[in-house]
Amino acid sequence: MTETPTPSLSAAAAKRLSSWLGHLGVSPMAFDDTVGLLNPLLRVHQLQARVVDKLTETPTASTLVLQVGGAFPALKAGQYLMVGITIQGVRHRRAYSPRRLADRPDCIAITVQRQPGGLVSNHINEVLSVGDVIDIEPPAGDFVLPTPVPPAVLLIAGGSGITPCMAMLGELRQHAPATRVTLLYFARSQRDRILAQALTELTQRWTSFTYVPLDSTVHTPASPEDGRTPPILNPQATSTRTLDETLLHDTVPSWTSAATYCCGPAPLMDAARRIWADAGVSRHLHLEAFAAPTPSGDPDARHHVTLHRAGESREFDAAGNLTLLVAGEQAGFQIKHGCRQGICHECTCRLHRGSVQDLGSGQRIDGEGQPIRLCVSTALSDLDLESLN
Ligand SMILES: Cc1cc2nc3c(=O)[nH]c(=O)nc-3n(C[C@H](O)[C@H](O)[C@H](O)COP(=O)(O)OP(=O)(O)OC[C@H]3O[C@@H](n4cnc5c(N)ncnc54)[C@H](O)[C@@H]3O)c2cc1C
Ligand code: FES
Repeated sequence: MTETPTPSLSAAAAKRLSSWLGHLGVSPMAFDDTVGLLNPLLRVHQLQARVVDKLTETPTASTLVLQVGGAFPALKAGQYLMVGITIQGVRHRRAYSPRRLADRPDCIAITVQRQPGGLVSNHINEVLSVGDVIDIEPPAGDFVLPTPVPPAVLLIAGGSGITPCMAMLGELRQHAPATRVTLLYFARSQRDRILAQALTELTQRWTSFTYVPLDSTVHTPASPEDGRTPPILNPQATSTRTLDETLLHDTVPSWTSAATYCCGPAPLMDAARRIWADAGVSRHLHLEAFAAPTPSGDPDARHHVTLHRAGESREFDAAGNLTLLVAGEQAGFQIKHGCRQGICHECTCRLHRGSVQDLGSGQRIDGEGQPIRLCVSTALSDLDLESLN
């Protein structure tokens, strides 16, 4: 692991210095750029991290160990952070779920699963190297354990959805080791199971932890070209166990009362949502989606969209099966955006007229000036929008 000492200017002192220089007209960004020349980890406004280790987890997933500076805020297990990566001169932001490392208090780790055709996940796996510096933002999100920690916690992960669960396991092991914790972890195969070794080791050291690895493609979206094990080629070799009441009764008899955290592909989370609703215990279920749901509207519907920004108007037609962001881009417009996942709010517009569907909540929003996010909204009628960014 590359060791890079951070010069000894504390984050609090750097913030005070930046504030003082602000009175003399030095902007926060100019301050960061200047101290960043000494060491990027000294920045206090636009944070950066240095890749100090890169580990191959599976044929399609890597872990980055990132050294962070003193200004990096407290991280709650299960939260995400936005990572900014510049590819061919264009900066892209994506969310990843970091975990603290018990033996490296100045570092966090993120594990990135390649997505077929995915821009940033493939760049991170193929190109990003030890010594590179990347932009990071403060952690955010409410997919976190409650305080106090309940006596029983059930974690359900599918594929790369293990990452926030792994952060929670680290937290529980360190601060609430008596909690009864069960992890149901679906992956296409043992070969595709990220962090498998670390999980096996954890079971050996932590008696109140039950680890249930499940090789299953039942909840897996098909993606044969991404290097992962293709969906069921040999049904004899692949368990078809699925998340259902029988599995829950077999593995976690008290599942209806456990605080449950589920993160994985949409079909897995849909199954969880239905099972917990049928049992009348949806209040115990917390879900984290890594990708916005795919729009399912009418591909033949055409809605006329007028988007006002900075005194200019752009007009385009949006099909019912495209997000407004994609529809605008396909019409040739550059539309301000960040994460494309409904998180960063950089694509937020005010909806003055018309109706949209929010893909995250499934709700219909009728235009009365409400903010909507173009990356997770589809048109249900002609629209009049005003960009807020
Ligand atoms: C809160 C949160 C936390 C996240 N944490 C992690 C994490 O710890 N590890 C990790 O690997 N990823 C994580 N993600 C997903 C990550 O942010 C990116 O979406 C993912 O890396 C793909 O980005 P990309 O640029 O490669 O793909 P893009 O170029 O944005 O998309 C390419 C194609 O892949 C599809 N796609 C994108 N993401 C997914 C996905 N997750 N599942 C299925 N299809 C997808 C898109 O629909 C598109 O067709 C998280 C997402 C969120 C919202
Ligand atoms: S681009 Fe981030 S919320 Fe839409």
